[in-house]
Amino acid sequence: MVSATGKSARRDPYRVYRIMELRNTRTTVLNQGDPVAKREEIRQYFHATYTLDEQLYDTLAEDRAFYLRVEPLRHPLIFYLGHTAAFYINKLIVAKLTTDRINPRYESMFAVGVDEMSWDDLNEAHYDWPTVAEVKAYRRTVRDVVDAAIRTLPLTMPIGWESPFWVILMGIEHQRIHIETSSVIIRRMPIDLVRQLPLWEICPDAGAAPQNELLPVPGGRVVLGKPRDHRLYGWDNEYGHQEYDVWDMAASRCLVSNQEYLPFVEDGGYQRQELWTTEGWNWVEYSQARHPLFWIDTPDGYRFRTMAREIDMPWNWPVEVNYLEAKAFCNWLALRTGQPIRLPTEAEWYHLHDLHQIPDQPDWPRAPGNVNLEHWASSCPVDRFRFGDFCDIIRSRRSGETIRIRFGAYDQNNKPYNDFQYDVVVPYSIQYRFCVVCASSGERLYCRSKYSHIRSAMAGISPLLGGYKVSSRSKRMKLIMSGRG
Ligand SMILES: [Fe+2]
Repeated sequence: MVSATGKSARRDPYRVYRIMELRNTRTTVLNQGDPVAKREEIRQYFHATYTLDEQLYDTLAEDRAFYLRVEPLRHPLIFYLGHTAAFYINKLIVAKLTTDRINPRYESMFAVGVDEMSWDDLNEAHYDWPTVAEVKAYRRTVRDVVDAAIRTLPLTMPIGWESPFWVILMGIEHQRIHIETSSVIIRRMPIDLVRQLPLWEICPDAGAAPQNELLPVPGGRVVLGKPRDHRLYGWDNEYGHQEYDVWDMAASRCLVSNQEYLPFVEDGGYQRQELWTTEGWNWVEYSQARHPLFWIDTPDGYRFRTMAREIDMPWNWPVEVNYLEAKAFCNWLALRTGQPIRLPTEAEWYHLHDLHQIPDQPDWPRAPGNVNLEHWASSCPVDRFRFGDFCDIIRSRRSGETIRIRFGAYDQNNKPYNDFQYDVVVPYSIQYRFCVVCASSGERLYCRSKYSHIRSAMAGISPLLGGYKVSSRSKRMKLIMSGRG
């Protein structure tokens, strides 16, 4: 049982992750190592993640920025400042690992986020948010409590779903998701309310985009889903087993760049209803978008917004758009080329990944692609990281890779683990990077997890913002997984 006071944990928590750099963390391998070392590894991972989360909010120049709702489909950032901390306590209580609440009001107020699917039915409820100082004080207490939990909860190897440490890891990985989420919300802040900190430095390289092209990919069998005893933490509906046959196709060598996307914009892409799905056109009319969200239209041409800067347009960085925009671009390109261009399915993307035998996050000394914050807190040129003939075939099992995770999409259906084949509904606030494929088979998106943006892949698009709630078939997991934001 964990004490809510966390008295035993008094120390300088900001020093424990010295051997684990904030920008080069590794998720926990669940079936290797002795319990004593594993406990300390998880403690360091927790503190590194907690500090990274707080460093992100330090980019806000004034407290009033915490209360602006710059992303209308999300709460203001004060919610997320409290949410990632309250999540730990709420899950420890659900798992019956403690009975002590620290602040019942906060743990209710910060429990549930806004449903970003409801862009046409926004929650305008009034919230009596606490001050930033109050929430930061709450966060410090939670940090001590969780530290005490990590130090004292029983730990046996391997760590599985029934382990108390599963709850701890859930809290850590959930927090890393929200580092991504909040970074994109910060990216919508008025520029005078943010400051560029060294920890979040952006890629310095930009220039003209390389010529993209479609390269052949032989078909093959793809296995999706992971076994219950997988060596890495997973969200509930990542599990299961599903096999697909992927047919021969061609895939773009690189992600679609800003430069490659520009002719679509200049060709009136955002004014031509015939290029959009019904849902997509509804979004265009709602948002009045005329170009990607982070492009800045100036009299001298487009500029570009990163999290804390406005810079010259990096034409060779991947364009960041939502799923509906990516689909419209594919339709435009298909019309223009006469080829069956579309977004890849998750199976197709995994197949491309499988063909290149790329190690996973705990196994690489340094990320072979722009993920996990190991290179920059921004995109980078589309041809910077090569994998054979292709570029950027990278996935990551874990988040914390602010705006650099590849591929992901979301569903809002309550589907059992092994039924991966449901159509995808994508929150409009999510921004992605994407590549295209050329294949005559019908487009169908396979989606398994609200958190698929953490671990990998789908539909050739990479989200810049988090997902939303998906229920699980497992009752226990449903309880523990019920947080969102
Ligand atoms: Fe959340």
